[in-house]
Amino acid sequence: MIEIEVKKLSVDFEKRRDGDKLNAVKNLSFSVSPGRFLCVIGPSGCGKTTLLNVLAGLLEPSAGTVLFNGKQDKGPGKDRAMVFQSGALLPWRTVLGNIRYGMEIQKVPKGEALPRSQELCTMVGLGEFENSYPRELSGGMQQRVNLARALATNPKLLLMDEPFASLDAQTREQMQLEVLKIWQQTKQTVVFITHQIEEAVFLADEVVVMTARPGQVKTVIPIEISRPRTYEIKKSALFHQYVDQLRDLVQQEFLLQKGMGKQ
Ligand SMILES: Nc1ncnc2c1ncn2[C@@H]1O[C@H](COP(=O)(O)OP(=O)(O)OP(=O)(O)O)[C@@H](O)[C@H]1O
Ligand SMILES: [Mg+2]
Repeated sequence: MIEIEVKKLSVDFEKRRDGDKLNAVKNLSFSVSPGRFLCVIGPSGCGKTTLLNVLAGLLEPSAGTVLFNGKQDKGPGKDRAMVFQSGALLPWRTVLGNIRYGMEIQKVPKGEALPRSQELCTMVGLGEFENSYPRELSGGMQQRVNLARALATNPKLLLMDEPFASLDAQTREQMQLEVLKIWQQTKQTVVFITHQIEEAVFLADEVVVMTARPGQVKTVIPIEISRPRTYEIKKSALFHQYVDQLRDLVQQEFLLQKGMGKQ
């Protein structure tokens, strides 16, 4: 299991035109205990994807540190898997081929990789599309392949960037339950980005609310709703209390952003 500590993380990007730096994330600190499910919400452009890219080892911080189990890691790790915001499937590979890809890189024997990818394919509801190519799938279906691909290598840390954004409401609820079920079995540490407040409350042990850019932690709200969580929980008063509290925080940040003319 993996513990993450993000300490005073800053990420700057070079601006093409005026040579100025763009501060995407500034002085961002939080930690995730091993096996916890953390959701991150915040206004568009506040640096959520940037943060996830740093956690995945795909982007170097400009300042600050990220520790995994107390150690600093360089580069992408075998123990981390990412579901990207816009799915990056390999167009020349079938659904199964895409799900198997990570396992091939990790040299998992074919006899093991094939049944595992078939199992995952069925789990995400694409059993009938094993041999289809990405171009033959809808956006939501492609995103499900992405999820299956990330889960295939049994990562200790699962990083998800709005993985359900392109799904219809019903499939989305189904996938939330699936992810919770898988997580309950594997006890992976999860960092999950979403724009949907209900989704964050339903999934998370803790919700990190980010400020407008440059992204910092505005507040962290622990979600004390018992597990396993079922669909019914979404109708409870406690659930709605959390949703309202978070909605107010996000709205506050949104207004602040507009008022200050940041964009
Ligand atoms: N590779 C890059 N080069 C330059 N600027 C970048 C790069 N990636 C992100 N940015 C900038 O950094 C800021 C944060 O971007 P990021 O994608 O992390 O936001 P986000 O919170 O994920 O937004 P959204 O909710 O819309 O996905 C934005 O202003 C964006 O323009
Ligand atoms: Mg993003």
